[in-house]
This record gives sequence, C-alpha cells and structure tokens, in this order.
Amino acid sequence: MKAIDLKEVYLKFFESKGHKRIPSSSLIPENDPTVLFTTAGMHPLVPFLMGEKHPLGTRLTSVQKCLRTGDIDEVGDEVHHTFFEMLGNWSLGDYFKKESIEFSFEFLTKVLKIDISRLAVTCFEGDEDAQKDMEAFNAWKSLGISEDRIAFLPKKDNWWGPAGDSGPCGPDTEIFYWASSLDVPKVYDPKDKRWVEIWNNVFMQYNKSKDGVFTLLQQKNVDTGLGVERVSALLQGFSDNYLTERFKPIIDLVCDLSNKKYEDYKKEMRIVADHIRSSVFVLGDPRGISPSNVDQGYILRRFIRRVIRVLYLLDVKDSVLSLLASKVIDIYGVEYPELNERKEFILNEIKLEEEKFSKTLVVGTREFERIAENMIKFNQKVFTKAFLLFSTYGFPLEMTKEMAMEKGLEVDVDKFNKEMEKHQELSRVGAEKKFKGGLSDSSEITTKYHSATHILGEALRRVLDKNIVQKGSNITPERLRFDFNFNRKLTDEEKKAIEDEVNRVISLGLEVDKKEMKLDEALNSGAQAEFGNRYPEVVSVYSMGDYSKEICMGPHVDNVSKLGHFRILKEESSASGIRRIKAILE
Ligand code: ALA
Repeated sequence: MKAIDLKEVYLKFFESKGHKRIPSSSLIPENDPTVLFTTAGMHPLVPFLMGEKHPLGTRLTSVQKCLRTGDIDEVGDEVHHTFFEMLGNWSLGDYFKKESIEFSFEFLTKVLKIDISRLAVTCFEGDEDAQKDMEAFNAWKSLGISEDRIAFLPKKDNWWGPAGDSGPCGPDTEIFYWASSLDVPKVYDPKDKRWVEIWNNVFMQYNKSKDGVFTLLQQKNVDTGLGVERVSALLQGFSDNYLTERFKPIIDLVCDLSNKKYEDYKKEMRIVADHIRSSVFVLGDPRGISPSNVDQGYILRRFIRRVIRVLYLLDVKDSVLSLLASKVIDIYGVEYPELNERKEFILNEIKLEEEKFSKTLVVGTREFERIAENMIKFNQKVFTKAFLLFSTYGFPLEMTKEMAMEKGLEVDVDKFNKEMEKHQELSRVGAEKKFKGGLSDSSEITTKYHSATHILGEALRRVLDKNIVQKGSNITPERLRFDFNFNRKLTDEEKKAIEDEVNRVISLGLEVDKKEMKLDEALNSGAQAEFGNRYPEVVSVYSMGDYSKEICMGPHVDNVSKLGHFRILKEESSASGIRRIKAILE
C-alpha cells in the first residue's frame, strides 16, 4: 500500500473508532525549549496529556511530520530516516491498554490484512518506577498472540519519553513485523533485526521532572506511533524503504546524475535521499528557517553540507541540489502544500548554501587529507584540527568526525569545543568593535539613509503593527534596505501610507538629538534595539523629536528636513515571516 493510501486508511479507521483528526503541527515546536524539532505526534499534545481539555475531545488521530537527529548515524541502512511521517492515535484519559491493543490488532490484521503469524510484541518487564505490564501481556494473549512471540524488556526498550528532558512518558508495548522472506521463526528474538518495529503504543501515565522523578499524571493516556515509510514499504513487499515511491524517484535521479548503480552505492544514495528530504521539509515548514551555525539552522546546514560531500564521493560535482529538492517537492507537494508555497525560498536557500560550501569543500578536503596522511605516517590517532576545518572551510564538526572515522582516526572534540568558545568570545568583541565604528561609509548620502531608516522603522510600527522591529539593515550610497517582522505582502495602499508617513515626518523638520547612556537605561526608556544584536554596556541613543528613539552609533543628520523625498522601490519577502523594503531618497 502506497504511503498516501496508508495514511488515509489509518485516519479513517480511527475515525470509525470515535477519534477526531488533527492536522500535522510544525516541525519546529512552538515555545518548547526541550527539543529542536517535533520528534513524535505527541509533541503538540503535551498540555492535553497533562490534563488540559482538548477542544476536539478525548480521542484524536493524526499524521505528523517528525524529525529525529538521534538516528542520523543509522541513516544509510534500509529503514532509518531523519525526517519521517508518524501516524498516531491518542486517548486523553479515555480508553487505556486493552482497547488500545485491540485497535492496533484490528487495524493490522483486519484492515491491512497482515497475517498474525508475522507479528511479535514486547512489553515492559517492570522496575521501581512501574510494574511488570501483565495487562498488556494479557491483552495480546487474548487476541491470539502466542507467548513465544511476547518478550518482556527493561526500560531501555519498553519505556517511551519524555521527548525532551522532562514531560509525559510511560511504559509501552511495541509491535514487530517479520520482514524477511525466510520462514518466520516460532519464537521471537528481540535481537534479530529481521523483526522490524512497526508500532509503538505508549501508556502515558507518568510525568518525569527535570530532576528525574516520576509522578502519576492526572489521567491515563495512550499515545501511539506508527512509521508511515516503514509500514508502507513492508506492505509493498520491500524491506528497503528507499525502494518505495517516496524515495525511488530521488534515488533514480542520483543514479542518473552520478552514472552509478544503486546496488553499488546504497548507503551513499540513501543518505542523499534522506537528507535532501529533511532539508526540504525544514526549509518548507511554515516556521522554516535558513541554514546557520545555531540550533535548527545548524542541523539543516549539516544535512545540506553532508549531501554535498556525499555527492562528491559519488563524483557528482555540479550544482544539483535544487534538482533533488524539486523532486522532493514533486513527491510531497499534494500532501504538504506549504512545500509548493515556499518552493522559491527552499530552492534559493539550498542553492545559496550549496554555492557557499562547494567553494570550500574541495580545498578543505585536500587540507584534511594532508593532515590525516601525515598523522597516519606518524601513527597518530587523534585528529586535532577540527576547528581549523570549521572556521576556515565551514566543515561541521560531525562531518570532520565522519571523515576522520573513514580514515580510522578520532577527533579531539574537547579541543574543538574549547577553540569554539574562544572564537565566540572573539567574535563578540569583534561585534562590539564593529558596532562602535557605526556605518562603515559615513558619506553625506549614507548618513541620510541611516536617518531615514529610523523614521521608516517607526512609520512601519505606526502604520502596520506596533510590534514590528528591525531584523536587519543594509545601506549603500544608492539605497537603504530594511528587514522587519511581518508575515505577509504589503498592499499598494499600505506602501503608499508608509511613504506618506515618512515624508510627513521629514516635513516636520525634527531635530536629531544624541545621548549616551547605560544599555539598561536605554532599553528602559523605550529606545528601540535590533533584536538579537549584541550591544556594549554604554550606548548612544538617537531621538528624532518625540517621533523615534533608537540605540544606534550613528552618524545621523542633525535635522530630518535634510532627507528630501522618500520613495519605496520594492517590498519583498526576505525569510520566513520577514519582509524587506528597499527605498531611496530623491
Ligand atoms: N511517542 C511514541 C513514539 O514516538 C508513540 O514512538
């Protein structure tokens, strides 16, 4: 059964059991500092598992976009992915173990028509936090699963969650499918990898606090997760997920581009297909972000750079990432319209990152080889130059680790971290120095643009939304460029109103005043500051009459009447939720 059909059949089945569909949430969790990405369908439901009332009731079902980086080293085998889709059904204090197991069994054997002889299950063996799960065991037995096919395992295997370092969790029962074409063994062996996990039913009854204490939740919940890629592949008779319609077109394209066969380069091609898919979904998410050196942006950067490196190993040295990314959008566009809506952004960001990294990959790899060969010659095992490769060639630490491993070397990660800390300290000092310098070009015209930027910021707040802040600014003698948070295109009327407002202020002939003060004092006085910017302890605050007040190092004109006439040339998107205005003074 194709993935798209499996999703529908699953949701329908649970609807028939009184569940309400909920849409997939963003891959980037909102206000949840415990994880970088949504790793399971339960994520958006945490408050409801903890006892809050859900508007749709106590039985829910969904297909959720998930991303797990914990499995990244596993990617390259037949069944592991970083991005994947998870089907799930939830009971929020409604049914519990018996019914949950019955629903799963009915879906697998009646709807998907899987033969019971190919199934095995595991249950929690019990410890000081929770009892041995005889309730789950009995439920399986009464459905006809033989005792030979039920294993009791410890917390490491049969306890799920919390997703981050704290939150809802509990013992689980996992369902396995015999994926080999060889005869099914009578007795289930949890160590035999031919038994593939397809479904996890978690009995979420506990909350784990940050200090590791388990307490009972107000209600007994069920949280289940079934991997779409895996189950759909098995139903199509593939033990290799990459042979299904979700990946095959990407793998075929890599074969064409590299002129190589999948059979000979399975691991490499799977990594490419997996990571390009994850990159597209991260960039294409409504909360999508760009590659960077922090948080989700760093993971995204690692995905893209690893794809580029692996393609190089496959002798693909041209710029092909947009082709691969477009293929992913073709495959998923119908189910995830956000990918088509954000196509231009996705392809653009991927291309930019590709351009940036392709330049340094070859030289950096040469440098790595030189150092590594020297080390091997002198029988050294610990590679100490990971930071050099990061700072000079943009090699993510994990990539250097992988390259070192391929040569039998080990990276000194502590040394890397220490050097990184020092580097961040230096760049902070650098930022302060740069800040002190103000505009690099302080000609008369750039000074005027700089003052116009302050008026524009305030005009945007007054005309559009008082929560607007500056997200970036770039001034040349030809124009100003101003980025701000706003989540849609401006109308012509709005653009006109903004122009009129800036020109109105210019005509007021306000004096520009500068005062030095402590950063705290400046912020408390309501002065605008650029979000995410690092400021020195003492700053200058520029005021234009009573109209605007901003922390800034100048320079500025002494009276706004000198600015002339302000005109917007262009208004466009610059990143997710960020608009960009280019304007001139004439
Ligand atoms: N939350 C459970 C899992 O991710 C269902 O396996």
